[in-house]
Amino acid sequence: MIAQSLITNNQAANNAHIQLLFNEPECCGMSIKDLSIHAKKKTILTVDELRFPKTGVVAIMGPSGSGKSTFLKAMSELMDENLTHKGDIDITCFDATNEPTSICSHFAMVWQKPTVFPCSIYDNLKVPLRKRKVARKEWRTLMVQALNDVGLMGELDEKWDKQRAQRLSGGQQQRLSIAMGLLKDSNIFLFDEPTSALDPISTDKIENIIKKLGKEKLVLLVTHSLGQARRVSDYSAMFHNHKDQGALCEFSSSESFFKSPASSQSREFIMKETGIQ
Ligand SMILES: Nc1ncnc2c1ncn2[C@@H]1O[C@H](COP(=O)(O)OP(=O)(O)OP(=O)(O)O)[C@@H](O)[C@H]1O
Ligand SMILES: [Mg+2]
Repeated sequence: MIAQSLITNNQAANNAHIQLLFNEPECCGMSIKDLSIHAKKKTILTVDELRFPKTGVVAIMGPSGSGKSTFLKAMSELMDENLTHKGDIDITCFDATNEPTSICSHFAMVWQKPTVFPCSIYDNLKVPLRKRKVARKEWRTLMVQALNDVGLMGELDEKWDKQRAQRLSGGQQQRLSIAMGLLKDSNIFLFDEPTSALDPISTDKIENIIKKLGKEKLVLLVTHSLGQARRVSDYSAMFHNHKDQGALCEFSSSESFFKSPASSQSREFIMKETGIQ
């Protein structure tokens, strides 16, 4: 079912260590081939070949400017007009009976800075439900469920529906963004440094939600915290700066990544972060 350690030619030329762990359609949630992202005058990022699992948490790490955020934007097709991309990003979605389906609900994206709308919690949460054309009489039940799933319900006033979303703390707003993703019924969650501005307690709450999400969905988590990657991820992807552009240099299980990183860039990154040689 799982093919180990195939290294593609181009990536091998870049001294990359990419394990294509998910070969069978029933294992693979997303496959990327010959992806390159370009600004007007330069190539920002290249990824020759990469496969993500159907479920699980993938930590995406690497130095500043190596293209991690741009990569997530390309996945979610949220790139700004300055950027273009070439190559294939194939997504396989699965229905309730675990059969591949062409009907794929959208990505949910959680950014470094919370992005809630300047209106009530209820009005924020109704956006994805309305988009999905869920019957209005089901809205409140689904909203309460999502707020419970992200541990927010117990922290809100009795009249939570009228509470203004932007008056919540940063950590609570992040969890509200995740609740919106749940109501969108997204298969894939993209997180770009979601806890970098948060205190340890809020960070812990978000990490627990990410771990739970990874049991049923594919979660891509860009993080600068090796501790966070170690705590929550099943797989690790390492980007680096190569000849003035970003490139993927390693993808493997997090267990093997942290035990014995294969690429010199990962070893150096871990060494600099932890001070351990
Ligand atoms: N719209 C754009 N136009 C031109 N260049 C861009 C654009 N967006 C990003 N870049 C460039 O692409 C490179 C990668 O940027 P990106 O934000 O993806 O890095 P990152 O790995 O997320 O860094 P950080 O860890 O600091 O968040 C940078 O050199 C950046 O200046
Ligand atoms: Mg970034």
